[in-house]
Amino acid sequence: MVSPLLLGFMGLLAEEWNYTHGGADWEGKCEDGLNQSPIDIFPENLTVIQRGSEVMDSLDLHFQKLDVLGNLTSHNYKLSGNFLNVTENYGSLQTHGKSIGFHFHSPSEHMISGKQFDLEMHIVMTDDEDGIIYYVLGLLFHVNGKTNKFINSVIDAYTAKTTIKLSDAFDGVTQLNNFYHYQGSLTTPPCSEIVNWFIWPKLLDLDSTQLSWFSKFWAENKEFANGHGNNRNTQELNGRVIYFFDGVDVQESFSKSLFVSALILGFFI
Ligand SMILES: *[C@@H]1O[C@H](CO)[C@@H](O)[C@H](O)[C@H]1NC(C)=O
Ligand SMILES: *[C@@H]1O[C@H](CO)[C@@H](O)[C@H](O)[C@H]1NC(C)=O
Ligand SMILES: *[C@@H]1O[C@H](CO)[C@@H](O)[C@H](O)[C@H]1NC(C)=O
Ligand SMILES: [Zn+2]
Repeated sequence: MVSPLLLGFMGLLAEEWNYTHGGADWEGKCEDGLNQSPIDIFPENLTVIQRGSEVMDSLDLHFQKLDVLGNLTSHNYKLSGNFLNVTENYGSLQTHGKSIGFHFHSPSEHMISGKQFDLEMHIVMTDDEDGIIYYVLGLLFHVNGKTNKFINSVIDAYTAKTTIKLSDAFDGVTQLNNFYHYQGSLTTPPCSEIVNWFIWPKLLDLDSTQLSWFSKFWAENKEFANGHGNNRNTQELNGRVIYFFDGVDVQESFSKSLFVSALILGFFI
């Protein structure tokens, strides 16, 4: 019989995973799963789906702003709540998901053609049917000297309740038609293989002060994981297909609709 003391100790071990080896020492599915995340996305491993194809996929984004306080946990920085509802249109099939929150990894977990980025944000959603299947939408940021106002609001939420408009992260885009998609896992233990991954290839603005705000907790903090960031190492594809949906993102066009209403009003007045 296993003693309660030993059970307690094992429980502690399970809780106390860390990023010192980029996840190479995590156990269970993390160690033997064949559909793990993150991955490095190479062009030669993509199946490209062109605009107009009957298997085109798109995500309709319905945002709602929320006042929240951020939470710096032992592994990341997260903001919890329903900031976004998503409708996925895959051919004639529609599924719905809603966000339970988003969090950050620095440097990025996903890579593209061997390139790693400064910051990656994961918007975590569950499907409306049973709340079990996860959709995770990954956004990539790189330092280009431009201040990202969405990231500023995320940083402000660390010290005081702040209004978060996730739409600001998407720069007016309300329908994604251009993204990578593959089947994978949670990137933290227990690494469950229940995630439909969507990665938006658009690189988002970040300035170096904003990046430091994240790296001071992780990659630049020797006490965090001996210099490793809070990113898991990339995983083998093991024959998985990565889709690239090569459509054009749709921008909400206020100016256009204002112009049309002005025309209609002008006509009737
Ligand atoms: C890409 O696909 C090729 C051919 O299927 C395979 O040999 C290679 O390992 C894949 N690359 C990655 C990074 O998985
Ligand atoms: C998102 O979905 C929730 C229910 O799941 C609903 O209460 C909310 O009004 C929806 N928000 C938007 C912006 O569609
Ligand atoms: C922050 O997250 C941790 C770990 O998930 C949780 O235990 C804690 O209750 C959270 N704190 C707040 C203020 O939400
Ligand atoms: Zn994550």
